[in-house]
Amino acid sequence: MMSRKAAFAVAAVISAVAATSVLAQDPIAEREKLMKEWGQATRPVGAMLKGSQPFDLTAVQAALDIYAKHAATMPALFPAGSDGGKTEALPAVWTQNAEFNALFVKFGADATAARAAITDEASFKANFPDVVRTCGTCHQTFRAKS
Ligand code: HEC
Repeated sequence: MMSRKAAFAVAAVISAVAATSVLAQDPIAEREKLMKEWGQATRPVGAMLKGSQPFDLTAVQAALDIYAKHAATMPALFPAGSDGGKTEALPAVWTQNAEFNALFVKFGADATAARAAITDEASFKANFPDVVRTCGTCHQTFRAKS
């Protein structure tokens, strides 16, 4: 028979697991928050590309870091059943799910490669546009136009 102490430990683990799944129960809000962070990180870097803001390697690296970080998390935030309610995610996210997830993998890998390749303004201008092109590629197919 299980001791009272062991039974308590098991109960604690079960409630910890339940708490974790409660946190993941708002995947729509969570993914929108991370997408917004991508948008915020991209804005100043886009201005640098256009030349309307001076080149700042630290800001470029910060953007690339947050791309790679969130790209790893993002696929888990589009679970089956999270297609209703207040979301711009199109049904294609779930009907073409392998293609959708592959874009996050590509985006993360491109960001990591660019992080290593970009050392100055010239390498920034040569490497950054190809990374952020994937934002638009994915939105084209998988996000409703607002
Ligand atoms: C692999 C696909 C994919 C990639 C890559 C991607 N997005 Fe998104 N994005 C989506 C989807 C799907 C939504 C809609 C999410 C929802 O409403 O549930 C979205 C929503 C957004 C939103 C709106 C968030 C809100 O407040 O509702 C912003 C801003 C955004 N993306 C910016 C970006 C930027 C910037 C990049 C690139 C740095 C990027 N996204 C890359 C698929 C992608």
